[in-house]
Amino acid sequence: MESVPQDFSDLELVYLARNAMKKAYCPYSKFPVGAVVFTECGQLIEGCNVENASYGGTICAERSAICSAVSQGYTKFKAIAIVTELTEPASPCGLCRQFLVEFGNYKVVIGTASNSKLLITTTMDLLPNAFTPHSLAVFEQEKSEEKIAEEKPAELAH
Ligand code: THU
Repeated sequence: MESVPQDFSDLELVYLARNAMKKAYCPYSKFPVGAVVFTECGQLIEGCNVENASYGGTICAERSAICSAVSQGYTKFKAIAIVTELTEPASPCGLCRQFLVEFGNYKVVIGTASNSKLLITTTMDLLPNAFTPHSLAVFEQEKSEEKIAEEKPAELAH
């Protein structure tokens, strides 16, 4: 019998993200962030922010979780949970929003380290009118249509 991937509640995902947050490397900001990606096939993959003495080299927890998932062969996601030590759920930064929506529309569960407040949203709601792989696919399509039109003999073009 095929095994059915286990499902997780929003709060369970938040607990897992809290665990990931403990591994944050954030000696500069001292602002730990944890994330856990829940893949379509039921895998849970953690991420945490990893800072750098050259501050711009810092990677956020969300991107670290997605990079870890992709490098393990997973690109289809059901949800990502994110936590910080703030007392209100903190929304992902702009760059992370772009990174998250690259892999489609899926649930984003934002929680905290210390209470059960949740902000539930989706990757597409976090970045409306996003530039996505679809935009590039449309570009390819339009280019190939243009090429076909150019190749048509003049008398057939009308
Ligand atoms: N950070 C994240 O991990 N995710 C976000 O969406 C916002 C910011 C991290 C980056 C840096 O290590 C620290 O939080 C302070 O900006």
